[in-house]
Amino acid sequence: MSARPLAALACCVGLVAAGCGGGGSKDPRVEQFASLGCASCHTLAAADATGRVGPNLDTLRPDATAVERQVTRGGGGMPSFRGRLSPAEIRTLARWVARVAGRR
Ligand code: HEC
Repeated sequence: MSARPLAALACCVGLVAAGCGGGGSKDPRVEQFASLGCASCHTLAAADATGRVGPNLDTLRPDATAVERQVTRGGGGMPSFRGRLSPAEIRTLARWVARVAGRR
């Protein structure tokens, strides 16, 4: 019985944290993918992105290391995001991209 209030509290904290992404009910990483411009250059169904400048990430299905490297360094026509995101933010975004790419 004593676990119940705790569970309810954890639930609320989770909701508040999710809401920090920038309003709306969207996944904050989807918003990030759009606001950083990834979506205008890449196709990624999980982010409703249909960009065609860079490779289609659903087809490419890069692993997290490859995404992290590319987002950090840029290259081949893609800007580096080193100055806009911390290494931790890049890693979080990279893991998410690697997880959702090709999954829809
Ligand atoms: C201005 C357009 C542009 C933007 C913005 C952009 N990319 Fe790219 N991206 C490219 C191009 C072009 C390539 C191909 C680079 C190459 O072939 O060397 C690429 C390559 C990649 C790759 C492939 C790496 C590999 O293993 O080959 C990944 C993953 C990637 N981008 C993710 C992202 C993410 C995540 C963002 C947002 C933080 C982003 N891109 C923003 C144009 C863009």
